[in-house]
Amino acid sequence: MDKFYLTTAIDYVNGAPHIGHAYEKILTDILARHFSQRTDNMYFLTGTDEHGIKIQKTAAARGITPKELCDENSQKFKDAWKALDINYNRFIRTTDEDHKAIVQKIFKKLVENGDIYKHSYQGLYCSGCECFLNEKDLTEDGLCPDHLKKPEIVSEENYFFKLTKYKDAIIKHIKENPDFIVPSFRANEVLNQLEDIQDISVSRAKSNVQWGIDVLDDPEQSIYVWIDALSNYITALGYDTENPSEMFKKLWPADVQVIGKDILKFHSIYWPAILLALGLPLPKHIYAHGWITIDESKMSKSLGNVISPTSVLEAFKLDKPDAFRYYMATSAPCGKDGNYSDDDFKEKVNAHLANSMGNLLNRTLSMLVKYFDGEVKEEFFATADSEVVKGSYALSKEALGKIKVVENHFNHFEIAEAAQEIISIVDATNKYVTDNAPWTLAKEEKMVECGQVLTTVLNIMCIISALIYPYCPNIAADMAKQLSFDITKKLDDITVNEIKSGKLITKEEIHPVFLRVDSELADKSVKK
Ligand code: ME8
Ligand code: MG
Repeated sequence: MDKFYLTTAIDYVNGAPHIGHAYEKILTDILARHFSQRTDNMYFLTGTDEHGIKIQKTAAARGITPKELCDENSQKFKDAWKALDINYNRFIRTTDEDHKAIVQKIFKKLVENGDIYKHSYQGLYCSGCECFLNEKDLTEDGLCPDHLKKPEIVSEENYFFKLTKYKDAIIKHIKENPDFIVPSFRANEVLNQLEDIQDISVSRAKSNVQWGIDVLDDPEQSIYVWIDALSNYITALGYDTENPSEMFKKLWPADVQVIGKDILKFHSIYWPAILLALGLPLPKHIYAHGWITIDESKMSKSLGNVISPTSVLEAFKLDKPDAFRYYMATSAPCGKDGNYSDDDFKEKVNAHLANSMGNLLNRTLSMLVKYFDGEVKEEFFATADSEVVKGSYALSKEALGKIKVVENHFNHFEIAEAAQEIISIVDATNKYVTDNAPWTLAKEEKMVECGQVLTTVLNIMCIISALIYPYCPNIAADMAKQLSFDITKKLDDITVNEIKSGKLITKEEIHPVFLRVDSELADKSVKK
Protein backbone atom coordinates (compact mmCIF):
# COMPACT_ATOMS: atom_id res chain seq x y z
CA MET A 1 0.00 0.00 0.00
CA ASP A 2 1.69 3.23 -1.12
CA LYS A 3 -0.84 5.83 0.09
CA PHE A 4 -4.19 6.11 1.74
CA TYR A 5 -6.41 9.18 1.38
CA LEU A 6 -9.62 9.33 3.36
CA THR A 7 -12.25 11.98 3.96
CA THR A 8 -15.33 12.60 6.10
CA ALA A 9 -18.43 14.60 5.25
CA ILE A 10 -17.93 18.25 6.13
CA ASP A 11 -20.48 19.28 8.74
CA TYR A 12 -22.93 22.16 8.54
CA VAL A 13 -22.05 24.82 11.07
CA ASN A 14 -25.57 25.73 12.03
CA GLY A 15 -25.09 24.41 15.52
CA ALA A 16 -22.62 22.54 17.68
CA PRO A 17 -21.42 19.00 16.94
CA HIS A 18 -23.45 16.11 18.31
CA ILE A 19 -22.56 12.48 18.74
CA GLY A 20 -23.82 11.63 15.24
CA HIS A 21 -21.14 13.89 13.78
CA ALA A 22 -18.68 12.44 16.27
CA TYR A 23 -19.54 8.89 15.22
CA GLU A 24 -18.43 9.59 11.66
CA LYS A 25 -15.23 11.36 12.67
CA ILE A 26 -14.35 8.55 15.09
CA LEU A 27 -14.91 5.88 12.43
CA THR A 28 -12.73 7.80 10.00
CA ASP A 29 -10.02 8.47 12.56
CA ILE A 30 -9.94 4.75 13.36
CA LEU A 31 -9.55 3.95 9.67
CA ALA A 32 -6.85 6.61 9.37
CA ARG A 33 -4.90 5.27 12.32
CA HIS A 34 -5.24 1.68 11.13
CA PHE A 35 -4.06 2.53 7.62
CA SER A 36 -1.21 4.58 9.03
CA GLN A 37 -0.06 1.25 10.49
CA ARG A 38 0.15 0.00 6.90
CA THR A 39 1.49 3.00 4.94
CA ASP A 40 3.56 6.11 5.61
CA ASN A 41 1.43 8.16 3.22
CA MET A 42 -1.88 8.46 4.98
CA TYR A 43 -3.86 11.67 4.58
CA PHE A 44 -7.05 12.38 6.51
CA LEU A 45 -9.30 15.31 5.61
CA THR A 46 -12.26 16.68 7.55
CA GLY A 47 -13.84 20.10 7.92
CA THR A 48 -16.96 22.23 7.86
CA ASP A 49 -19.52 23.18 5.21
CA GLU A 50 -20.31 26.83 5.75
CA HIS A 51 -22.34 28.38 2.92
CA GLY A 52 -26.06 28.34 2.27
CA ILE A 53 -29.39 29.89 3.06
CA LYS A 54 -29.68 28.29 6.50
CA ILE A 55 -26.49 29.90 7.81
CA GLN A 56 -27.53 33.19 6.28
CA LYS A 57 -30.89 33.05 8.10
CA THR A 58 -29.51 31.89 11.45
CA ALA A 59 -26.86 34.60 11.41
CA ALA A 60 -29.44 37.25 10.50
CA ALA A 61 -31.69 36.11 13.35
CA ARG A 62 -28.79 36.49 15.76
CA GLY A 63 -27.74 39.83 14.37
CA ILE A 64 -24.25 38.67 13.41
CA THR A 65 -22.58 38.13 10.03
CA PRO A 66 -22.62 34.68 8.46
CA LYS A 67 -18.82 34.57 8.75
CA GLU A 68 -18.99 35.32 12.48
CA LEU A 69 -21.48 32.49 12.95
CA CYS A 70 -19.26 30.14 10.92
CA ASP A 71 -16.14 31.08 12.86
CA GLU A 72 -17.88 30.49 16.16
CA ASN A 73 -19.39 27.14 15.26
CA SER A 74 -16.54 25.79 13.17
CA GLN A 75 -14.34 26.24 16.24
CA LYS A 76 -16.75 24.06 18.26
CA PHE A 77 -16.19 21.22 15.80
CA LYS A 78 -12.43 21.65 15.99
CA ASP A 79 -12.55 21.67 19.80
CA ALA A 80 -14.70 18.55 19.88
CA TRP A 81 -12.39 16.67 17.52
CA LYS A 82 -9.43 17.66 19.64
CA ALA A 83 -11.12 16.25 22.74
CA LEU A 84 -11.80 13.02 20.85
CA ASP A 85 -8.23 12.74 19.53
CA ILE A 86 -9.36 13.01 15.92
CA ASN A 87 -6.00 13.28 14.27
CA TYR A 88 -6.80 14.85 10.88
CA ASN A 89 -4.20 16.29 8.50
CA ARG A 90 -6.31 19.20 7.33
CA PHE A 91 -9.49 20.81 8.59
CA ILE A 92 -10.94 22.49 5.52
CA ARG A 93 -13.56 25.21 5.76
CA THR A 94 -15.55 26.02 2.63
CA THR A 95 -14.91 29.68 3.49
CA ASP A 96 -11.14 29.12 3.10
CA GLU A 97 -9.79 31.34 0.33
CA ASP A 98 -7.94 28.56 -1.52
CA HIS A 99 -11.12 26.47 -1.59
CA LYS A 100 -13.32 29.31 -2.87
CA ALA A 101 -10.93 30.22 -5.67
CA ILE A 102 -10.72 26.65 -6.96
CA VAL A 103 -14.48 26.10 -6.74
CA GLN A 104 -14.94 29.12 -9.00
CA LYS A 105 -12.51 27.67 -11.51
CA ILE A 106 -14.19 24.26 -11.40
CA PHE A 107 -17.55 25.90 -12.09
CA LYS A 108 -16.07 27.91 -14.94
CA LYS A 109 -14.51 24.85 -16.51
CA LEU A 110 -17.82 22.98 -16.37
CA VAL A 111 -19.57 25.91 -18.07
CA GLU A 112 -16.88 26.03 -20.77
CA ASN A 113 -17.18 22.30 -21.38
CA GLY A 114 -20.94 22.59 -21.83
CA ASP A 115 -21.72 20.56 -18.71
CA ILE A 116 -23.41 23.55 -17.08
CA TYR A 117 -26.15 25.61 -18.74
CA LYS A 118 -28.60 28.32 -17.65
CA HIS A 119 -32.28 27.53 -17.27
CA SER A 120 -35.42 29.00 -15.68
CA TYR A 121 -36.76 26.78 -13.02
CA GLN A 122 -39.39 26.35 -10.35
CA GLY A 123 -38.70 23.89 -7.55
CA LEU A 124 -39.26 22.93 -3.93
CA TYR A 125 -36.27 23.84 -1.76
CA CYS A 126 -35.61 22.38 1.69
CA SER A 127 -33.10 24.49 3.59
CA GLY A 128 -32.52 21.61 6.04
CA CYS A 129 -31.23 19.43 3.19
CA GLU A 130 -29.93 22.46 1.27
CA CYS A 131 -31.38 20.88 -1.84
CA PHE A 132 -34.36 20.77 -4.17
CA LEU A 133 -36.86 17.97 -3.55
CA ASN A 134 -39.22 16.21 -5.94
CA GLU A 135 -42.96 16.29 -5.25
CA LYS A 136 -42.95 12.50 -4.89
CA ASP A 137 -40.27 12.57 -2.15
CA LEU A 138 -42.50 14.59 0.21
CA THR A 139 -44.67 13.19 3.01
CA GLU A 140 -48.46 13.08 2.61
CA ASP A 141 -48.63 16.52 4.21
CA GLY A 142 -46.13 17.89 1.70
CA LEU A 143 -43.19 18.02 4.14
CA CYS A 144 -39.52 17.11 3.70
CA PRO A 145 -39.32 13.54 5.07
CA ASP A 146 -35.99 14.21 6.85
CA HIS A 147 -36.67 17.62 8.33
CA LEU A 148 -40.50 17.55 8.56
CA LYS A 149 -40.59 21.08 7.24
CA LYS A 150 -42.52 22.49 4.33
CA PRO A 151 -40.12 23.22 1.46
CA GLU A 152 -40.11 26.71 -0.06
CA ILE A 153 -41.29 27.21 -3.62
CA VAL A 154 -38.34 28.71 -5.46
CA SER A 155 -38.67 30.21 -8.90
CA GLU A 156 -35.35 31.32 -10.35
CA GLU A 157 -33.11 31.33 -13.33
CA ASN A 158 -30.24 29.04 -12.27
CA TYR A 159 -27.31 27.22 -13.72
CA PHE A 160 -27.93 23.51 -14.26
CA PHE A 161 -25.48 20.65 -14.37
CA LYS A 162 -26.04 17.95 -17.00
CA LEU A 163 -26.29 15.05 -14.58
CA THR A 164 -28.26 13.03 -17.14
CA LYS A 165 -25.24 13.01 -19.46
CA TYR A 166 -23.35 10.88 -16.90
CA LYS A 167 -26.20 8.60 -15.84
CA ASP A 168 -25.17 5.58 -17.92
CA ALA A 169 -21.50 5.88 -17.00
CA ILE A 170 -22.35 5.95 -13.29
CA ILE A 171 -24.72 2.99 -13.54
CA LYS A 172 -21.97 1.07 -15.34
CA HIS A 173 -19.39 2.04 -12.73
CA ILE A 174 -21.59 0.92 -9.84
CA LYS A 175 -22.40 -2.39 -11.53
CA GLU A 176 -18.80 -3.10 -12.49
CA ASN A 177 -17.42 -2.14 -9.09
CA PRO A 178 -19.58 -3.89 -6.50
CA ASP A 179 -17.39 -2.51 -3.70
CA PHE A 180 -17.65 1.12 -4.86
CA ILE A 181 -20.58 1.65 -2.49
CA VAL A 182 -20.00 0.20 0.99
CA PRO A 183 -21.95 -1.60 2.32
CA SER A 184 -23.02 -3.19 -0.95
CA PHE A 185 -26.65 -3.50 0.15
CA ARG A 186 -26.99 0.25 -0.46
CA ALA A 187 -25.97 0.01 -4.12
CA ASN A 188 -29.47 -1.00 -5.24
CA GLU A 189 -30.95 2.05 -3.57
CA VAL A 190 -28.60 4.22 -5.58
CA LEU A 191 -29.31 2.36 -8.83
CA ASN A 192 -33.03 2.96 -8.25
CA GLN A 193 -32.44 6.67 -7.65
CA LEU A 194 -30.42 6.80 -10.85
CA GLU A 195 -33.44 5.57 -12.84
CA ASP A 196 -35.23 8.90 -12.69
CA ILE A 197 -32.51 11.48 -12.21
CA GLN A 198 -32.72 14.88 -13.87
CA ASP A 199 -30.23 17.64 -14.43
CA ILE A 200 -29.60 19.49 -11.17
CA SER A 201 -29.55 23.11 -10.17
CA VAL A 202 -26.01 24.17 -9.21
CA SER A 203 -26.49 27.84 -8.47
CA ARG A 204 -28.94 30.12 -6.68
CA ALA A 205 -29.90 33.69 -7.49
CA LYS A 206 -27.77 36.08 -5.46
CA SER A 207 -30.97 38.01 -4.67
CA ASN A 208 -32.17 34.99 -2.65
CA VAL A 209 -28.92 33.49 -1.39
CA GLN A 210 -26.10 35.90 -0.66
CA TRP A 211 -23.98 33.61 1.51
CA GLY A 212 -22.24 31.61 -1.18
CA ILE A 213 -19.34 31.67 -3.61
CA ASP A 214 -19.93 33.95 -6.61
CA VAL A 215 -20.06 32.46 -10.08
CA LEU A 216 -17.10 33.97 -11.95
CA ASP A 217 -18.31 36.27 -14.73
CA ASP A 218 -21.88 36.17 -13.36
CA PRO A 219 -22.00 37.74 -9.89
CA GLU A 220 -25.84 37.61 -9.89
CA GLN A 221 -25.52 33.89 -9.13
CA SER A 222 -23.91 32.10 -6.20
CA ILE A 223 -22.60 28.58 -6.48
CA TYR A 224 -24.98 26.15 -4.90
CA VAL A 225 -23.93 24.43 -1.69
CA TRP A 226 -23.41 20.89 -2.94
CA ILE A 227 -21.02 21.69 -5.77
CA ASP A 228 -19.12 23.90 -3.32
CA ALA A 229 -19.18 21.27 -0.57
CA LEU A 230 -18.32 18.19 -2.64
CA SER A 231 -15.37 19.94 -4.25
CA ASN A 232 -13.65 20.21 -0.86
CA TYR A 233 -12.33 16.68 -1.30
CA ILE A 234 -10.09 17.86 -4.15
CA THR A 235 -9.57 21.54 -3.38
CA ALA A 236 -8.05 20.55 -0.03
CA LEU A 237 -5.28 18.75 -1.90
CA GLY A 238 -4.55 21.66 -4.22
CA TYR A 239 -6.50 20.48 -7.23
CA ASP A 240 -6.49 23.06 -9.97
CA THR A 241 -8.24 22.93 -13.32
CA GLU A 242 -5.00 23.83 -15.11
CA ASN A 243 -2.18 22.84 -12.88
CA PRO A 244 -2.98 20.39 -10.07
CA SER A 245 -0.49 20.18 -7.19
CA GLU A 246 1.92 17.30 -6.61
CA MET A 247 -0.05 16.44 -3.50
CA PHE A 248 -3.22 16.09 -5.53
CA LYS A 249 -1.48 13.89 -8.08
CA LYS A 250 -0.13 11.72 -5.30
CA LEU A 251 -3.31 11.34 -3.24
CA TRP A 252 -6.26 11.41 -5.63
CA PRO A 253 -8.42 9.31 -6.07
CA ALA A 254 -9.52 8.98 -2.46
CA ASP A 255 -9.26 5.49 -1.06
CA VAL A 256 -12.42 5.92 0.97
CA GLN A 257 -14.89 8.72 1.52
CA VAL A 258 -16.85 8.26 4.74
CA ILE A 259 -20.35 9.77 4.89
CA GLY A 260 -23.75 9.14 6.47
CA LYS A 261 -26.40 7.18 4.63
CA ASP A 262 -28.58 10.31 4.25
CA ILE A 263 -26.11 11.92 1.84
CA LEU A 264 -25.21 8.85 -0.19
CA LYS A 265 -27.08 10.14 -3.25
CA PHE A 266 -24.89 13.24 -3.38
CA HIS A 267 -21.72 11.19 -3.04
CA SER A 268 -22.51 8.27 -5.32
CA ILE A 269 -24.34 10.16 -8.08
CA TYR A 270 -23.64 13.92 -8.07
CA TRP A 271 -20.02 13.68 -6.99
CA PRO A 272 -19.00 10.99 -9.51
CA ALA A 273 -20.73 13.00 -12.25
CA ILE A 274 -18.76 16.14 -11.34
CA LEU A 275 -15.53 14.13 -11.32
CA LEU A 276 -16.30 12.55 -14.69
CA ALA A 277 -17.04 15.98 -16.11
CA LEU A 278 -13.66 17.17 -14.85
CA GLY A 279 -12.00 14.10 -16.31
CA LEU A 280 -10.89 12.85 -12.89
CA PRO A 281 -10.93 9.28 -11.56
CA LEU A 282 -13.65 8.31 -9.08
CA PRO A 283 -12.96 7.54 -5.41
CA LYS A 284 -12.30 3.87 -4.75
CA HIS A 285 -14.98 3.51 -2.09
CA ILE A 286 -17.87 5.52 -0.72
CA TYR A 287 -18.59 4.20 2.76
CA ALA A 288 -22.05 5.14 4.02
CA HIS A 289 -22.37 4.60 7.77
CA GLY A 290 -25.68 4.30 9.58
CA TRP A 291 -27.30 6.71 11.99
CA ILE A 292 -26.88 7.00 15.73
CA THR A 293 -29.97 7.14 17.90
CA ILE A 294 -30.10 8.04 21.60
CA ASP A 295 -31.81 5.47 23.80
CA GLU A 296 -33.31 4.12 20.58
CA SER A 297 -34.91 7.41 19.53
CA LYS A 298 -33.93 9.80 16.79
CA MET A 299 -31.82 12.70 18.03
CA SER A 300 -33.66 15.96 17.59
CA LYS A 301 -33.74 19.46 18.97
CA SER A 302 -37.49 19.17 19.59
CA LEU A 303 -37.05 15.97 21.63
CA GLY A 304 -34.28 17.71 23.56
CA ASN A 305 -32.09 14.60 23.39
CA VAL A 306 -29.18 15.96 21.36
CA ILE A 307 -25.95 14.93 23.09
CA SER A 308 -22.64 16.64 22.51
CA PRO A 309 -19.68 14.26 22.31
CA THR A 310 -17.70 16.03 25.01
CA SER A 311 -20.59 15.93 27.47
CA VAL A 312 -20.27 12.14 27.57
CA LEU A 313 -16.63 12.49 28.60
CA GLU A 314 -17.59 15.08 31.22
CA ALA A 315 -20.50 13.07 32.59
CA PHE A 316 -18.28 10.05 33.20
CA LYS A 317 -15.27 12.14 34.25
CA LEU A 318 -13.15 10.61 31.50
CA ASP A 319 -9.96 12.54 30.82
CA LYS A 320 -9.28 10.53 27.67
CA PRO A 321 -11.73 9.77 24.84
CA ASP A 322 -10.70 6.12 24.33
CA ALA A 323 -13.73 4.47 25.94
CA PHE A 324 -16.16 6.71 24.09
CA ARG A 325 -14.36 6.10 20.79
CA TYR A 326 -14.43 2.36 21.38
CA TYR A 327 -18.09 2.38 22.27
CA MET A 328 -19.17 4.49 19.30
CA ALA A 329 -17.06 2.54 16.84
CA THR A 330 -18.52 -0.77 17.97
CA SER A 331 -22.12 0.42 18.25
CA ALA A 332 -23.17 -1.00 14.90
CA PRO A 333 -22.01 -3.45 12.24
CA CYS A 334 -20.74 -1.86 9.01
CA GLY A 335 -23.35 0.49 7.57
CA LYS A 336 -26.08 -0.27 10.10
CA ASP A 337 -27.64 2.16 12.58
CA GLY A 338 -26.19 2.33 16.07
CA ASN A 339 -27.40 3.56 19.42
CA TYR A 340 -25.97 5.39 22.40
CA SER A 341 -27.18 4.68 25.92
CA ASP A 342 -25.44 5.50 29.19
CA ASP A 343 -26.07 2.08 30.71
CA ASP A 344 -24.88 0.21 27.68
CA PHE A 345 -21.80 2.44 27.46
CA LYS A 346 -20.78 1.69 31.05
CA GLU A 347 -21.44 -1.99 30.74
CA LYS A 348 -19.54 -2.44 27.50
CA VAL A 349 -16.43 -0.41 28.23
CA ASN A 350 -16.14 -1.86 31.72
CA ALA A 351 -16.46 -5.40 30.39
CA HIS A 352 -14.19 -5.08 27.36
CA LEU A 353 -11.61 -2.45 28.25
CA ALA A 354 -11.33 -2.70 32.03
CA ASN A 355 -12.22 -6.28 32.98
CA SER A 356 -11.07 -8.26 29.95
CA MET A 357 -8.23 -6.33 28.35
CA GLY A 358 -6.90 -4.02 31.06
CA ASN A 359 -7.00 -6.61 33.81
CA LEU A 360 -5.30 -9.24 31.70
CA LEU A 361 -2.28 -7.01 31.24
CA ASN A 362 -2.30 -5.80 34.82
CA ARG A 363 -2.41 -9.18 36.51
CA THR A 364 0.10 -10.73 34.09
CA LEU A 365 2.64 -7.97 34.76
CA SER A 366 1.95 -8.23 38.50
CA MET A 367 2.68 -11.96 38.44
CA LEU A 368 5.86 -11.34 36.45
CA VAL A 369 7.02 -9.01 39.22
CA LYS A 370 5.86 -11.32 42.01
CA TYR A 371 7.41 -14.53 40.68
CA PHE A 372 10.32 -13.24 38.59
CA ASP A 373 11.06 -9.75 39.85
CA GLY A 374 9.81 -8.40 36.51
CA GLU A 375 12.29 -10.38 34.45
CA VAL A 376 11.53 -12.33 31.26
CA LYS A 377 14.01 -15.21 30.86
CA GLU A 378 15.16 -16.67 27.50
CA GLU A 379 13.72 -20.08 28.32
CA PHE A 380 10.23 -18.64 28.77
CA PHE A 381 9.61 -17.99 25.07
CA ALA A 382 7.40 -20.59 23.39
CA THR A 383 8.54 -21.71 19.96
CA ALA A 384 7.61 -24.85 18.04
CA ASP A 385 10.44 -26.73 19.87
CA SER A 386 10.50 -25.03 23.23
CA GLU A 387 6.92 -25.34 24.30
CA VAL A 388 6.60 -26.50 27.91
CA VAL A 389 3.01 -25.40 28.32
CA LYS A 390 0.82 -27.04 25.71
CA GLY A 391 -0.98 -24.61 23.42
CA SER A 392 1.31 -21.63 24.11
CA TYR A 393 2.88 -21.53 20.68
CA ALA A 394 -0.40 -22.22 18.90
CA LEU A 395 -2.09 -19.38 20.77
CA SER A 396 0.73 -16.95 19.90
CA LYS A 397 0.50 -17.92 16.25
CA GLU A 398 -3.26 -17.57 16.32
CA ALA A 399 -2.98 -14.07 17.79
CA LEU A 400 -0.44 -13.07 15.16
CA GLY A 401 -2.70 -14.50 12.47
CA LYS A 402 -5.50 -12.23 13.68
CA ILE A 403 -3.59 -9.24 12.35
CA LYS A 404 -4.48 -10.35 8.82
CA VAL A 405 -8.06 -11.04 9.86
CA VAL A 406 -8.35 -7.54 11.32
CA GLU A 407 -6.70 -6.01 8.24
CA ASN A 408 -9.16 -7.82 6.05
CA HIS A 409 -12.09 -6.38 8.01
CA PHE A 410 -10.56 -2.94 7.64
CA ASN A 411 -10.21 -3.48 3.89
CA HIS A 412 -14.00 -3.73 3.93
CA PHE A 413 -14.44 -0.91 6.48
CA GLU A 414 -15.83 -3.37 9.03
CA ILE A 415 -14.70 -1.50 12.09
CA ALA A 416 -17.00 -3.05 14.68
CA GLU A 417 -16.34 -6.49 13.23
CA ALA A 418 -12.58 -5.96 13.52
CA ALA A 419 -12.97 -4.92 17.16
CA GLN A 420 -14.84 -8.12 17.83
CA GLU A 421 -11.87 -10.10 16.54
CA ILE A 422 -9.55 -8.19 18.84
CA ILE A 423 -11.75 -8.88 21.84
CA SER A 424 -11.90 -12.53 20.84
CA ILE A 425 -8.09 -12.74 21.16
CA VAL A 426 -8.38 -11.12 24.59
CA ASP A 427 -11.00 -13.70 25.58
CA ALA A 428 -8.95 -16.63 24.27
CA THR A 429 -5.89 -15.35 26.14
CA ASN A 430 -7.86 -14.94 29.37
CA LYS A 431 -9.03 -18.53 28.96
CA TYR A 432 -5.45 -19.68 28.43
CA VAL A 433 -4.46 -18.02 31.71
CA THR A 434 -7.37 -19.56 33.59
CA ASP A 435 -6.72 -23.02 32.07
CA ASN A 436 -3.01 -22.94 32.89
CA ALA A 437 -3.24 -21.15 36.25
CA PRO A 438 0.26 -19.65 36.47
CA TRP A 439 -0.27 -19.04 40.23
CA THR A 440 -0.65 -22.83 40.69
CA LEU A 441 2.39 -23.49 38.50
CA ALA A 442 4.37 -21.11 40.73
CA LYS A 443 3.14 -22.85 43.87
CA GLU A 444 4.22 -26.18 42.38
CA GLU A 445 7.56 -24.55 41.56
CA LYS A 446 7.16 -25.18 37.84
CA MET A 447 8.85 -21.87 37.13
CA VAL A 448 9.65 -22.29 33.42
CA GLU A 449 6.05 -23.28 32.79
CA CYS A 450 4.82 -20.34 34.82
CA GLY A 451 7.16 -17.97 32.99
CA GLN A 452 6.06 -19.34 29.65
CA VAL A 453 2.41 -18.66 30.37
CA LEU A 454 3.18 -15.07 31.41
CA THR A 455 5.53 -14.43 28.49
CA THR A 456 3.06 -15.85 25.99
CA VAL A 457 0.40 -13.50 27.35
CA LEU A 458 2.71 -10.50 27.26
CA ASN A 459 3.70 -11.21 23.66
CA ILE A 460 0.05 -11.42 22.72
CA MET A 461 -0.62 -8.17 24.58
CA CYS A 462 1.83 -6.45 22.23
CA ILE A 463 -0.27 -7.59 19.28
CA ILE A 464 -3.45 -6.52 21.06
CA SER A 465 -2.06 -3.07 21.85
CA ALA A 466 -1.19 -2.55 18.17
CA LEU A 467 -4.61 -3.71 17.03
CA ILE A 468 -6.58 -1.72 19.61
CA TYR A 469 -4.49 1.42 18.97
CA PRO A 470 -6.77 2.89 16.26
CA TYR A 471 -9.76 2.69 18.61
CA CYS A 472 -8.05 3.54 21.90
CA PRO A 473 -4.79 5.35 21.10
CA ASN A 474 -4.05 6.43 24.69
CA ILE A 475 -4.78 3.08 26.28
CA ALA A 476 -2.76 1.32 23.58
CA ALA A 477 0.21 3.63 24.10
CA ASP A 478 0.06 3.01 27.82
CA MET A 479 -0.10 -0.75 27.32
CA ALA A 480 2.81 -0.61 24.91
CA LYS A 481 4.84 1.46 27.36
CA GLN A 482 4.46 -1.15 30.10
CA LEU A 483 5.41 -3.85 27.59
CA SER A 484 8.38 -1.84 26.16
CA PHE A 485 6.72 -2.38 22.80
CA ASP A 486 7.00 0.13 19.96
CA ILE A 487 3.42 1.22 19.24
CA THR A 488 4.48 2.96 16.01
CA LYS A 489 5.52 -0.35 14.47
CA LYS A 490 3.87 -1.21 11.15
CA LEU A 491 1.52 -4.18 11.42
CA ASP A 492 3.56 -6.12 8.88
CA ASP A 493 6.65 -5.94 11.09
CA ILE A 494 5.04 -7.44 14.18
CA THR A 495 6.22 -10.93 15.14
CA VAL A 496 5.13 -13.54 17.72
CA ASN A 497 7.91 -12.48 20.07
CA GLU A 498 7.82 -8.73 20.59
CA ILE A 499 8.80 -8.92 24.27
CA LYS A 500 12.54 -8.60 24.86
CA SER A 501 14.21 -10.93 27.34
CA GLY A 502 15.58 -9.32 30.48
CA LYS A 503 14.09 -7.02 33.07
CA LEU A 504 10.76 -5.78 31.71
CA ILE A 505 9.15 -3.81 34.50
CA THR A 506 9.18 -2.90 38.20
CA LYS A 507 6.30 -2.95 40.62
CA GLU A 508 6.12 0.86 40.62
CA GLU A 509 5.79 1.02 36.84
CA ILE A 510 2.71 -1.19 36.72
CA HIS A 511 -0.62 0.60 36.62
CA PRO A 512 -4.11 -0.06 35.23
CA VAL A 513 -4.53 1.22 31.66
CA PHE A 514 -8.24 1.84 32.08
CA LEU A 515 -10.27 2.36 35.25
CA ARG A 516 -13.83 1.13 35.36
CA VAL A 517 -16.39 3.81 34.56
CA ASP A 518 -18.23 4.64 37.74
CA SER A 519 -21.95 3.92 37.66
CA GLU A 520 -22.71 6.80 40.00
CA LEU A 521 -21.44 9.27 37.43
CA ALA A 522 -24.10 8.48 34.87
CA ASP A 523 -25.97 11.66 35.67
CA LYS A 524 -27.87 12.47 32.51
CA SER A 525 -28.59 16.01 33.60
CA VAL A 526 -24.94 16.88 33.10
CA LYS A 527 -25.21 16.27 29.36
CA LYS A 528 -26.30 18.83 26.84
O1 ME8 B 1 -24.93 16.71 5.33
N1 ME8 B 1 -25.83 9.69 13.21
O2 ME8 B 1 -23.82 18.06 6.86
P1 ME8 B 1 -24.52 17.57 8.23
C1 ME8 B 1 -24.80 9.49 12.37
N2 ME8 B 1 -22.74 19.46 4.98
N3 ME8 B 1 -24.35 10.38 11.50
C2 ME8 B 1 -24.96 11.57 11.47
C3 ME8 B 1 -26.05 11.88 12.32
C4 ME8 B 1 -26.50 10.86 13.22
N4 ME8 B 1 -27.49 11.04 14.06
N5 ME8 B 1 -26.44 13.14 12.04
C5 ME8 B 1 -25.62 13.60 11.05
C6 ME8 B 1 -24.15 17.61 5.61
N6 ME8 B 1 -24.74 12.66 10.71
C7 ME8 B 1 -23.34 18.27 4.52
C8 ME8 B 1 -22.30 17.29 4.01
S1 ME8 B 1 -20.24 16.61 2.47
C9 ME8 B 1 -19.54 17.21 1.06
C10 ME8 B 1 -21.45 17.79 2.90
C11 ME8 B 1 -23.71 12.73 9.66
O3 ME8 B 1 -23.90 18.42 9.26
C12 ME8 B 1 -24.34 12.90 8.28
O4 ME8 B 1 -24.78 11.67 7.79
O5 ME8 B 1 -25.99 17.54 8.09
C13 ME8 B 1 -23.19 13.48 7.51
O6 ME8 B 1 -22.37 12.47 6.98
C14 ME8 B 1 -22.42 14.29 8.56
O7 ME8 B 1 -22.92 13.87 9.84
C15 ME8 B 1 -22.64 15.79 8.40
O8 ME8 B 1 -24.01 16.09 8.40
MG1 MG C 1 -27.77 16.63 7.90
